Amino acid sequence: MKTRYPVHPEFATHTLCDNDKYLSMYQQSIENNEAFWGLHGKRLDWIKPYIQIKDVSFDQQDLHIKWFADGQLNVSYNCIDRHLPTKADQTAIIWEGDNPAESKNISYAELHQEVGRFANTLKKLGVIKGDRVTLYMPMIPEAAYAMLACARIGAIHSVVFGGFSPEALGDRIINCKSKLVITADRGVRGAKSIGLKANVDKATKKAGVKDYLESVLVIKTADHEVDWYDHDHWYHEVSQSVDTFCEPAIMNAEDPLFILYTSGSTGQPKGVLHTSGGYLLYASMTHEYVFDIQPGDVYWCTADVGWITGHSYVVYGPLANGGTTLMFEGVPNYPDHSRFWQICDKHQVNICYTAPTAIRALMKEGDEPVKSTSRKSLRVLGSVGEPINPEAWKWYYEVVGEARSPIVDTWWQTETGGIMISPLPGATALKPGSATRPFFGIKPALLDNEGNELNGVASGNLVITDSWPGQMRTVYGDHARFYTTYFAAFKNVYTTGDGAKRDEDGYYWITGRTDDVLNVSGHRMGTAEVESALVAHPAVAEAAVVGYPHDIKGQGIYAYVTLVNGMAESETLLSELVNWVRSEIGPIATPDKIQWAPGLPKTRSGKIMRRILRKIAANEHKNLGDTSTLAEPEVVVNLINNRLNK
Ligand code: PRX
Repeated sequence: MKTRYPVHPEFATHTLCDNDKYLSMYQQSIENNEAFWGLHGKRLDWIKPYIQIKDVSFDQQDLHIKWFADGQLNVSYNCIDRHLPTKADQTAIIWEGDNPAESKNISYAELHQEVGRFANTLKKLGVIKGDRVTLYMPMIPEAAYAMLACARIGAIHSVVFGGFSPEALGDRIINCKSKLVITADRGVRGAKSIGLKANVDKATKKAGVKDYLESVLVIKTADHEVDWYDHDHWYHEVSQSVDTFCEPAIMNAEDPLFILYTSGSTGQPKGVLHTSGGYLLYASMTHEYVFDIQPGDVYWCTADVGWITGHSYVVYGPLANGGTTLMFEGVPNYPDHSRFWQICDKHQVNICYTAPTAIRALMKEGDEPVKSTSRKSLRVLGSVGEPINPEAWKWYYEVVGEARSPIVDTWWQTETGGIMISPLPGATALKPGSATRPFFGIKPALLDNEGNELNGVASGNLVITDSWPGQMRTVYGDHARFYTTYFAAFKNVYTTGDGAKRDEDGYYWITGRTDDVLNVSGHRMGTAEVESALVAHPAVAEAAVVGYPHDIKGQGIYAYVTLVNGMAESETLLSELVNWVRSEIGPIATPDKIQWAPGLPKTRSGKIMRRILRKIAANEHKNLGDTSTLAEPEVVVNLINNRLNK
């Protein structure tokens, strides 16, 4: 397999950014960081232009991150109104339903009206600036309207992915004290219906939720029966009498735009807080450069709005750039395995941005479902969420892209707000499996475990040594946790939690998490979360969860479970535990394997030795490393003999 792919000839002549431009802009962005962002901040429309640019400290005593702090703007104005003079009739959102017979185009003029109507509806329900609003929505245009409507009136949205359970939804409502939940009667994915409203009903019954939650706003998608409570409102009824124009609220650049919960290595998921000006600037600039957006492009990011990718690259980035963004309600394999590529043909998609897990799942079905489509419109392919293995990269490149389209392998995180390390199509020679070089203004470094910076070709902890406008500002309601999670391990840098190596060309290769965070089908999952769900079951005394290599998902969830004395191991209990985790967290946390463990390997001080458990789960038990600190070595022998991955 080729290991280096030069910039494609057509990009050498027709691109937003060639290699010389990348190098000179990158140099400026590092040498004169404030001036660089001061200049590019002007890509947004400001109600009150900023004078201050950057005000940042990563110190424990004074941890703060502010960009353009004296500027004022409105995010929804930037995503809609400012495009109206030239693009009122241009399509802003192409919506493609789960059912291939359903799709619609929403122009910027229509988007303006729909968001205005939605914003006035929120106001009518008493939502004001600074209130938190939780969204639990399918991938329908109303999800984007609702996000932009919150931005329009200065409410802070918290989107919870529709695959999370009522329990998890309730926790997130409580954590940010949401006043309103927006949902739909049902969601539909792959012709399967998901009772979103029914889940919200269950969540509202969870202790503590009604201390904050006043109303539930429900979008009607079809004639579905739903239970109804006093706090419920149909969107089509409340919105009927409201105006379609809503004056955008004047927001400070550092006013919060949204909270998005994500998993860490310890404890409950944390609310990552992003603010208005810096986030939007970073989402829009990365979107334009990384995907080499040209006028008239149809751009499709397959992510759900429940994840950061859906925030930055389905909604905010593309719309801030006045682009056409495609929103897909369904799944890659419904009605058949050609669906993704049929969508590319149907809407003449130029840029397609998806996840390695989807690529691997489709690759398994062979080339035929791809080859039965044209895909001639595709110009750039993107990958996000987890390392892409060279086989999947090659298949994506050669079979899907017919070797015509570069692949941008974009590395970033919920916390970073936008893409941090990625090729630029017209500038960067590609190496399969490498996210290549940093975006403008991003200074990555590799540190050893003692915090010493490693130079040249090296491998270590990936950190970012300076702030960028899209950086998260705090953990909602827990600034101390913001410090301990990201700034305590190594001083004065942002710690990503990922390991990486740097090669002789200065390219970065992400090697995966260095902490106890799993990446299952591109979804982040804390081992601690799954463990605490398991031990909450009355039959479980102790549980340890690790990841193991999985062909399609990247990582699978492997749980070792010790039962309370007197409980018998059984197939029934096994499936009960699987269902239990699904109902505590959601289907995305379903354990792939549960091994009964009469004991867990621990150090003499009682710490579970996960390194050993990971090796057993990966079937690498012949090389367990140092086991001299084990309290009871026979426990390990038992686990090896009964391992599930043989
Ligand atoms: O481990 C990295 C992996 O996904 C983590 C971030 O997950 P999340 O916050 O859910 O955001 C996913 C979408 C941005 C990272 O710490 N990751 C993300 N992109 C890549 C990746 N690993 C390797 N290569 C990537 N391109």
